[in-house]
Amino acid sequence: MPQSHDRSRLLDRFHTIVNGPALFNALVAGAELGLFEHLSRHPEARFKELCETTGVPAHQLRVLLFALCSTGLVRREGEGYVNSDVAEELLAPQGEDSWRHILVGWQRIYYPAFTRTTEALKAGTNTAIADYPGTEPTFYQRLAHSPEVESVFHAAMTAFTLRSLPGLLDHLDLSEVRHVLDVGGGDGTTSKRLAEKYPDCRFTVFDTPSVAELADRSMPAELGERVALCPGDLFSDPFPQDVDCVLFSHCLEVFSPEQIGYLMDKAFDALAPGGRIHLYGFTAMDDEQTGMYGARLSLYLNVLATGSGMSYPADDYERWLTHAGFTGVGSVTGLPYEHTLTSGTKPGE
Ligand SMILES: C[S@@+](CC[C@H](N)C(=O)[O-])C[C@H]1O[C@@H](n2cnc3c(N)ncnc32)[C@H](O)[C@@H]1O
Repeated sequence: MPQSHDRSRLLDRFHTIVNGPALFNALVAGAELGLFEHLSRHPEARFKELCETTGVPAHQLRVLLFALCSTGLVRREGEGYVNSDVAEELLAPQGEDSWRHILVGWQRIYYPAFTRTTEALKAGTNTAIADYPGTEPTFYQRLAHSPEVESVFHAAMTAFTLRSLPGLLDHLDLSEVRHVLDVGGGDGTTSKRLAEKYPDCRFTVFDTPSVAELADRSMPAELGERVALCPGDLFSDPFPQDVDCVLFSHCLEVFSPEQIGYLMDKAFDALAPGGRIHLYGFTAMDDEQTGMYGARLSLYLNVLATGSGMSYPADDYERWLTHAGFTGVGSVTGLPYEHTLTSGTKPGE
């Protein structure tokens, strides 16, 4: 690509990034006010109708619509307003997988923490955790003291997990598996979806006690028999031993290489010979030069969540599996949202 073209694309990106925080918050306001949902049901709604439905005064609504139109996500057509295809697909839906939950979670939790980025990077630890009650070293542990924040966090995580789940559902084959251990399985969203697809397989979701309670509350009665919860700490409590598959989905990014090494050994010991291990999540690409989702997640982990971890490259995951003794290690890369599935087998069967 000629250099001048490169420069103009980069300038465009610069303008988007520097204005991004304000426009991001306008998107959250539009979602919270039900504006995208209304435009979905009433395309070409007029300004006056939008004032009535959102309850926002005329001047302030004019400002909000200016901001939303400047992103291209909403357009003015004649006297009315319409959603773009992207707003229609990502922002108008109201279900569990709505981007609305993700945006609210990022606004409430991630972005306030990012004001401490320089401080946390220099300190080499997650200093933004000071904004949350408790004395535990990780944000995941401290969430137990703030049930309201915990439910916002898990609603955002559930929505993002559902958005990124097709990559896993399309490439993970559990047809020969009896019992999956879903490590750091959160509120059980992934196990529930996998249990629907594989009716002969059972699942155990391992997570902290407060998250296990959340998972319990949202467990559909028809899956209760096949999706069990195992509350505990990954580093001090044992894994169940009768499993023939271990899944780490969006879990290892959170930890340091030393902690990941420990978890790989622990998973290896929990599996019978022939057992499979699958690691699914964000990966850094192009020698850690591309991947906005992975970069954002890595900053969040270091500034707020654990003070370690990142969206590691697929090569790292393959090396850690091989080092723990797994064989036939390989990865499916290029999955949506910068995801990779890395798998291996415990030898000996
Ligand atoms: C990023 S979330 C992923 C959740 C789920 N796998 C998903 O994809 O939606 C990481 C999970 O690891 C759990 N976790 C972190 N540290 C843990 C620990 N020491 N013991 C048990 N669970 C832990 C958190 O509570 C959280 O639910």
